[in-house]
Amino acid sequence: MGATVEINNLSKIFARQDTSGTLKALDNIDLSVREGEFLTLLGASGCGKSTLLRIIAGLEVPTVGDVKFNGEAIKGTDSSRGLVFQEHTLFPWLSVKGNIEFALKSTKQYAQKKGEVDDWISLAGLWEFKRNYPHQLSGGMRQRAALVRALSVSPKLLLLDEPLGALDSFTRMNLQDELLRLWQEQKNTMIMVTHDIDEAIYLSQRVVVMSPRPGRIAKIIDIPMSYPRNRASGDFEVLRAQILKLMNFAKEVQEEYTI
Ligand SMILES: Nc1ncnc2c1ncn2[C@@H]1O[C@H](COP(=O)(O)OP(=O)(O)OP(=O)(O)O)[C@@H](O)[C@H]1O
Ligand SMILES: [Mg+2]
Repeated sequence: MGATVEINNLSKIFARQDTSGTLKALDNIDLSVREGEFLTLLGASGCGKSTLLRIIAGLEVPTVGDVKFNGEAIKGTDSSRGLVFQEHTLFPWLSVKGNIEFALKSTKQYAQKKGEVDDWISLAGLWEFKRNYPHQLSGGMRQRAALVRALSVSPKLLLLDEPLGALDSFTRMNLQDELLRLWQEQKNTMIMVTHDIDEAIYLSQRVVVMSPRPGRIAKIIDIPMSYPRNRASGDFEVLRAQILKLMNFAKEVQEEYTI
């Protein structure tokens, strides 16, 4: 089952490395994520998306405001909140199979789920590489392994920081479908960061568009389309144009097309 996340009046201020000043990475964020919802965070580089995920994961604390997970204040990390980092974080001394087994063992689910390990490896398309170590995999393979490792322990909330960013477009579309299938099966709550407007519309029920310096929520857009979604449909096109406009890219795109 999924979980709820309540973010209230959250700001995050970092000390700057170069000067004695500070940097406001997140400013006054209010957001309620529903149980079992698939939500994406979309925004330019540096607008605080990873910082927000890290706070929800319990790896950072807010400077102001608070975050509640299933109604309780977040204190540190917990295996019910899985995180797939922007850079993959497989254990380099363990094989693909070893990494998944480690996740199950460290969350005390190994006895119950050891029969599923091979299925996860196959799902990631890594069957022939299951005994390989991370340095013997391509970037995309590593990211796929990190993704299935996080999914294998069935977290109530999965925080995904551009998990498909390093993949070629075919693998990416296949994994988008797999992500949707797993989400519908496991009914966990998903918060996923992406730079890709189409990916956000294809996957999520709501898209949170963020603006930079300081990171704020510019708009929350409902995606009322049923699954599976058609990337070529008129509704999809309308949403794409709306989000492009919101992100201030519409003008550039129009100019490109009128040349
Ligand atoms: N630990 C830190 N110390 C100081 N500044 C930080 C720290 N982490 C993030 N920042 C700053 O906070 C801002 C937001 O960073 P963040 O990584 O959250 O952005 P992002 O939206 O995930 O960007 P990208 O799309 O490039 O991954 C940036 O200006 C970054 O330099
Ligand atoms: Mg980031």
